[in-house]
Amino acid sequence: MIRTIQLTILPGDHIGHEVMDQALRVLDFIEKHDDVTFEITRHDIGGTSYDKHGTPLTDQAIEDAAKSDACLLGAVGGPEWDNVPYDLRPEAGLLKIRKELGLYANLRPAQVFPALAEASSLKTELVTGLDILIVRELTGGIYFGEPRGREELSDGQSRAFDTQVYTTSEIERIARIAFETARKRNGRLTSVDKANVMASGKLWREVVTNLHQREFSDITLDHMFVDNCAMQLVRTPKQFDVIVTDNLFGDILSDEASMLTGSLGMLPSASLGDHGRALYEPVHGSAPDISGQGKANPLAMILSLAMACRLSLGLEDWADRIETAVATILKDGHRTADISKADDAVLSTPKITDILLETLKGEL
Ligand code: IPM
Ligand code: MG
Repeated sequence: MIRTIQLTILPGDHIGHEVMDQALRVLDFIEKHDDVTFEITRHDIGGTSYDKHGTPLTDQAIEDAAKSDACLLGAVGGPEWDNVPYDLRPEAGLLKIRKELGLYANLRPAQVFPALAEASSLKTELVTGLDILIVRELTGGIYFGEPRGREELSDGQSRAFDTQVYTTSEIERIARIAFETARKRNGRLTSVDKANVMASGKLWREVVTNLHQREFSDITLDHMFVDNCAMQLVRTPKQFDVIVTDNLFGDILSDEASMLTGSLGMLPSASLGDHGRALYEPVHGSAPDISGQGKANPLAMILSLAMACRLSLGLEDWADRIETAVATILKDGHRTADISKADDAVLSTPKITDILLETLKGEL
């Protein structure tokens, strides 16, 4: 019996297309070697969508994305859209798909591949074996809170404002995902807030504490202020297992954590909602500076596909195989420019995928 899996593919802008092309080659490979067929619907998102359709995300794209088993997204953004209306900028497409699909839980693993430990900005011994997971709230907080806006004051100044706002249920559902995830890992959760200054932070801490007492007392829970967490991440990053935090803090801390691993080009992410809705994307951006040159590292995109295989598609074996193959090619010294050292031979985007596919074949 051949199983049909529906995927929505959103390459986005710049290197988003280049890395997505490589993920599609991996999907082809899986189809050839397993009893599945991928029914793929392709849509624009970001600046590319704005240029073609006048909006960074069409209603049709949202509708198809909502129906599919998973969405794969490349990356959005670029300087050519610096002057489009603020509501129609490429990033607005990304925020919109997260909000419309209700993808409130953003899972951002930061794992150090042994072969890349030296590429970290921290001392090798501080990061060897590092494996942390940031669970970022993705559809609430200051990125979506109302009121927001700008007004012109009579004295000639402007005034702009955003609102940081969370409800009990928004905090509880993201905390539940984080506790459940910690239970499958090493049983430790750090909840990060700014409860010493912000009312929303105080509520955050209260809700996480209550849920812990009610349902997750087997998990070791710590609370940390975000400024301290930012410092601890570069002091002793291995103290963390799972970190749960709000939208803004999670955005910042996940970029910080990504650098511990040596390359942004290696990090996948999953954004999950209710009813199995899910979107997988690399943490890196659209990298306009290297766009169209075959220099992009496709491994974060391919590892995002691996996460989709594990969390949404019932293809756990393939998730394991892809992750093993990535570790193997790194161990064998294969490198794209972003993870290379001076004397390494540098591989192009399609070339490193060739080697990955060869390695996958060898694993079968
Ligand atoms: C991310 C990005 C986005 C965010 C931007 C591009 C809107 O920084 O996914 O972390 O802030 O969420
Ligand atoms: Mg970010």
